[in-house]
Formats: sequence, structure tokens, C-alpha cells
Amino acid sequence: MSAHDVFFVQSRAEGCMTAKPKILVVDDDRSICKLMGSILEMESYPFRVAMTGEQARRAMEEERFDILVSDIYLGDDSGLHLLERMKCVNADAEVVIMTAHGSMETAVHAVHNGAFDYISKPFVIDEMLRILHRIEEKFQLSLSKTVGSELAESLPKTEIIGATPKMIDIYKKVAKTARIEAPVLVIGESGSGKELIARALHENSARASAPFVVINCGALPETLLESELYGHERGSFTGATGSRKGLFESASGGTVFLDEISETSLNFQVKLLRVIQEREIRRVGSNDTIQVDVRLIAATNRDLREMVRTGRFREDLFHRLNVFTIALPALRDRKEDIPLLSSYFLKLFTEKTGKTVRLASDALEAMKHYCWPGNVRELKNMLERAMTFNDTGVIQLEELEFGEPGNGAPIEPSPGPSTRPLPGGEASLDAMERQHIIKILKETGGNKKKAAEILGIERRTLYNKAKRLGIDFRTV
Ligand SMILES: Nc1ncnc2c1ncn2[C@@H]1O[C@H](COP(=O)(O)OP(=O)(O)OP(=O)(O)O)[C@@H](O)[C@H]1O
Ligand SMILES: [Mg+2]
Repeated sequence: MSAHDVFFVQSRAEGCMTAKPKILVVDDDRSICKLMGSILEMESYPFRVAMTGEQARRAMEEERFDILVSDIYLGDDSGLHLLERMKCVNADAEVVIMTAHGSMETAVHAVHNGAFDYISKPFVIDEMLRILHRIEEKFQLSLSKTVGSELAESLPKTEIIGATPKMIDIYKKVAKTARIEAPVLVIGESGSGKELIARALHENSARASAPFVVINCGALPETLLESELYGHERGSFTGATGSRKGLFESASGGTVFLDEISETSLNFQVKLLRVIQEREIRRVGSNDTIQVDVRLIAATNRDLREMVRTGRFREDLFHRLNVFTIALPALRDRKEDIPLLSSYFLKLFTEKTGKTVRLASDALEAMKHYCWPGNVRELKNMLERAMTFNDTGVIQLEELEFGEPGNGAPIEPSPGPSTRPLPGGEASLDAMERQHIIKILKETGGNKKKAAEILGIERRTLYNKAKRLGIDFRTV
């Protein structure tokens, strides 16, 4: 980019009496620069615009700025490097990072490096203004030294896809609650990514190097669940031939993820409450208490509040768990993420199989109009299946197997003549999955461990699937 590509826009407000923070805007996209220019001018902020990293660096040397608003990817530089530079020249400066793809990684990375906030493009003007006003307020209150990075400090390892404002909010919540010791309740429909979020919370916490232990409360009968979690002493029940540590003990220093918390008995809930309050457990069959150091994350796809009302969930435990809640949006409520998710999963499968497959545009279009009762998991499975059977290199609409339109999964009418009716009905993915699981279970004589191995899934997942698909192990 040539030198005259830099254009300076001095705000009319410069020199006015109120101390408005001075802003440096950096983006290699001219339209964003223009948009930002008009927003800042309208709000009377003094500002300067640069279109390359080099120009931005020069501007920082020439003038003192209070706020840097920078794109994350610049042709010759990165917004995160500029952030570093900015903090070097003015430690009190605040930085807002703009990104085309809102990702968990960018959010936490930016904030880890000291950004005040980050915003996903395209953004609405109000959203940008809200952030700037917050920074301005901070300036006015002279709080700049005390308010630092409010989000998590470590980098995420979990890849969570989604760039819609709903997902950006989730990333911010994860970043904010990851380092807190209090329990977090993750709610959301089946397949919406609750476990993924729980992992992200763990990986972004100070406990990241300690174990993350998952326990599916719905998959085990109460007595087994208790002995799994709390451990047991020898002879405490038939078959307890030795004493055993429970998961709360083995997860010491780490995080215990209690999936399907709604499926626990009231009796179990009392004991769990004690773990939260007293931070101690008692092995089954023992009177001694053992101190445990775990952080709890619970998840459910049920309405716990309603369960409290009807006496099926303890109110005290609910309040303990509900201090921080992360409510995941259903995929149908963030349809704009469908293309992003699709290309992510296609890329993932390509990495796994070496096979490159694209998605025909009408197939993608149909996906955008489908209701996704199984959320991201359903989308992932659907693509994986289509990709496995595809031998043309392009997945056509006919190759996608959408679930039954009835059964809580209405397919929305899609506008435009290009969209053909969706296939549905008999060969639903769930039905095929169910059939396949039953077949493998029969082949292994009901051995769930072996069956899970053959199916290439964890035993826990097999329990989950069996439950979801209505497979009764006893009758297989
Ligand atoms: N935002 C996302 N980005 C990438 N992958 C996702 C996302 N959300 C979910 N997934 C994937 O979808 C699948 C289901 O996610 P997960 O197991 O976290 O859902 P869940 O809410 O715990 O489901 P359930 O209620 O059935 O236990 C996983 O393979 C997960 O990796
Ligand atoms: Mg789950």
C-alpha cells in the first residue's frame, strides 16, 4: 500500500474543552475506515485513521492516543502487535480489536493481551459506540489504572465456532467466568455445545493443567453415580471388593463436569450441595470426611427452574449452581453461523480423511432453512455422513439427510425458487444411527465397552446416544 493511502481525518472536535479520548483507527478496509470516521466525527471524538500497520506505528510515534481501534488482520501487521505497541507508548491506553470472524480464540487472545474489548465485523454502530462510551466513562472517572483486563488470561485450546453476536456474548461470558471458582451452570438444547463450553471454562481457568472430569449423571443409576463420584470403602456394597477413590478425589485441583444434572435424585442433590458448601466428601461406606478441591460445572437441557417449582430439583442446589449461567443459543437462533460451521466441519473431515468435499450452494441454502433440533451435533453428523458417501467432490442437496419434519423439527419454508423440498422421513440420521448401534450391540453380545470401541465413541457417548435414541440396553 502506498504512502498516500493513509488519510488523516482530524475531527472537528479536536481542541474542544471536554477531554474526549483521542482515537487511532486502523483497518485496511477503506469502507470500515470511512464508517468509523463518520461515527467518530458524529460523536465528536478527535481521531486519526491509518490503513496499514506501518502508518499506525508512525501515528503512535507522532501523537499520543488514548484509544486504539484496530482490525486484527492487517496486510502487513496484526492488531495484536499494534496493541502491544500501543501499550508500550501509553500504558493507560485502551484497545478495541475488530475481527471479521468472531472466534473464541480471538476474543480471549485479544483480551489476554490487554484489549478492553473486541467486536466482530460487521458491527452495528450502536455496539461500537457502547464500547467507546464505556471507555470514555472510564477515562472521565480516571479509573484507567484500576480497571485492567477483566476477562480470562490464558489462551483457549478449544475450538468453538460462531461469529454471531449471541456467540460473541458466550465467549465473553466464558472468558469472564473461567477464572472464578464458583460453579457455573451451562444450559442449552441437546447438541448445542454445552460440553465444549465446559471444557473451554476449564481450559481457560487456573485449573487447566489439572484434570477435567466428565460425569454423565443421567447415564448411571444413583448408587453407581455416588460411588463413581465419592468413591467407596471395601464392602460398602455387594461387589465393592476394595476401596476406591471417587472422581471428586481424582479430579483434585481440576474441574468436575456434571452433565445432565437434572437427572439426579433429590437425595443425591443434598450430597452435592454439601460438596459445594463444605468442599468435602465422604466415601460410600465411610464416616470420614475428605477435603476436595474441585470446581463444579453443571449442564442441563431441562428447565431447572420449572423442576424446582414442581419439587423435582432442590431449590438450594439450584441457587448454588445458578450463580453464573451460560445459556447457549439453539442453532436455529444463530443461523448466520451455519456457513462458518459447515466449512469448519468440512475442513476438519478433510484433515481426518484427506478427502476434499465442497457443499453445493443450494445444499447450504437448505441447511440455513432447517430447524436443527439436534443443533451443532446434528449438523456435524449430517455433514460427516454426506462426506463419507460422497464421491463427486460436491455435496448436493439430495445427499443431505434432514431429520423428520414432524417430531419437533419443523423445516421452515425456504424462500426463493431455487430451494427444492428437503428430503426427510424414513431414513433419518437418528433412525440409521439407532439401527447401527443396536446392530453393534447385538454383535458384541451387549458389551458396551466393546461396542463403543467399534463405534469409535466413548462409552459415555454410547450411553448418551442410547438414551437419546431410546435404546434399552436390557432388551438389545
Ligand atoms: N460452537 C461449536 N463449534 C464447534 N463445534 C461445536 C460447537 N457446538 C457444538 N459443537 C460440536 O457438536 C457436538 C456436540 O457438542 P456438545 O457435546 O458440547 O453438546 P451438548 O450440548 O453437551 O449436547 P448434549 O446435551 O447432547 O450432551 C460436539 O462434537 C461438539 O464438538
Ligand atoms: Mg453434553
